[in-house]
Amino acid sequence: MIEQNTSGDENIKSVKPPYQTPKGVHDILPADHEYYTFIKKCVRHRLRQAGFRRISTPIFEFTEVFTRSIGDTSDIVSKEMYTFHDRKERSLTLKPEGTAGVVRAYIQHGMQNLPQPVELYYIEPHFRYDRPQKGRYRQFHQFGYEIIGESDPALDVQAIYLAHKILDDLGIAQIFTLQLNSIGCKVCRPRYLNALKDYYFGKERSLCVNCKQRLDKNPLRLLDCKEEDCMILAQIAPKLSDYLCNECKEYHADVKEFLAELKIEYVENPNLVRGLDYYTKTVFEFWDKTDGAQNAIGGGGRYDGLVELMGGQPTPACGFAAGMERIIANMKREKIRVPRKDDLHVFVAQLGKEAKKKCLPLIAALREAGIKTMGALGKGSIKAQMRLADKFKVPYTIIIGLTEVREGTAIIRDMAVGTQRTVPFDDVVDEIVKLIGAENRDAYSPSEAIY
Ligand code: HAM
Repeated sequence: MIEQNTSGDENIKSVKPPYQTPKGVHDILPADHEYYTFIKKCVRHRLRQAGFRRISTPIFEFTEVFTRSIGDTSDIVSKEMYTFHDRKERSLTLKPEGTAGVVRAYIQHGMQNLPQPVELYYIEPHFRYDRPQKGRYRQFHQFGYEIIGESDPALDVQAIYLAHKILDDLGIAQIFTLQLNSIGCKVCRPRYLNALKDYYFGKERSLCVNCKQRLDKNPLRLLDCKEEDCMILAQIAPKLSDYLCNECKEYHADVKEFLAELKIEYVENPNLVRGLDYYTKTVFEFWDKTDGAQNAIGGGGRYDGLVELMGGQPTPACGFAAGMERIIANMKREKIRVPRKDDLHVFVAQLGKEAKKKCLPLIAALREAGIKTMGALGKGSIKAQMRLADKFKVPYTIIIGLTEVREGTAIIRDMAVGTQRTVPFDDVVDEIVKLIGAENRDAYSPSEAIY
């Protein structure tokens, strides 16, 4: 989504400076930050309502945190990690996803002693050495959440419902389908993997290079290969649903029953396996109705074995994460506008040192009153300052020249209509608040400020 020079100002020309961002990573310019801020607010609001608390794990962890959890044979671990050694030759990796770090933190901080389930959410940058293309970046942002400590189909449905609700708040729920599958547990999946290997026996020549390797190491991933020949074979491969143990079958049936209760539509997709090894039972993704799997906006599922695999007590869990860049691209495609909180209310223009002396406390008082104010405090002529005010698209400009200083007044200009009037200097703040509307002020609110 982010073509560089997305300042939102089409007049700014792209230049080719000597230093540019590396391939696949982007600056987030002010116009896009308004989307990020809006998404963060929606996510925080929905998750707080549901009792989740925010967590941030470090940008890098010991490499093993990811190799152990995501799995050695996954694409992420085998091809996409930013791994480096520190000065003491310890192997560290920039986090490619959020679940592994959260599970590590759950164990490290003894969260199993808290009332269960522990519900945590994050909004963080992640890093994958993917081939950069539309919707695939090397630094991207996810919001995600994890429900750790209990197993029940109703919790899986809660995770799905929250994702659906957030996408709905963002105005894009209708362009995605919920894809749903169960990939079984450690009891039934090995039986299925054997059946799958038997099925592919003798068909190896028709598989792509990646799938030939997957056959030995991670046969489940054969099901979601995007190569045409592999897809044809996958379509008629044995279905995991025929191999689920009774517990997994019942669990999956309950998930579907609860989804129906919440009127959430889904598509049963027997080939949905997800790209990370830690999943058990429920897996789900939100697919673009036109693009399909190519640019899934988010995905998640249950991972009942992961806490134990990472050295904790056996602890069931499930969760979800979505890519914020992909969300923004879809919001733009759907022409969804976000509140433009950065837009200025007022521009203050002045002429001469005496006027400037009056302007400085006026600008401070306006800002204190919640009026987003920009002062032209340079040496430009009034005409030049008014041109600047036009460029900033402010609704009102306050003008103070020598006459106004002498008379203790100020001019308020309505920029859209082009009219202006003189008011007593001491009334300027109140007049502007009236014009802007008290409810539109950028007032300080502690509950919003801390995050
Ligand atoms: P994931 O499917 O690997 O799941 O990533 C979730 C979302 O992150 C994707 O659907 C996509 O929107 C976004 N994403 C992934 N890679 C990129 C990229 N290179 N560029 C842009 N966006 C990207 C997970 O990460 C799991 N940890 C989700 C989860 C949480 N499962 C349980 N709890």
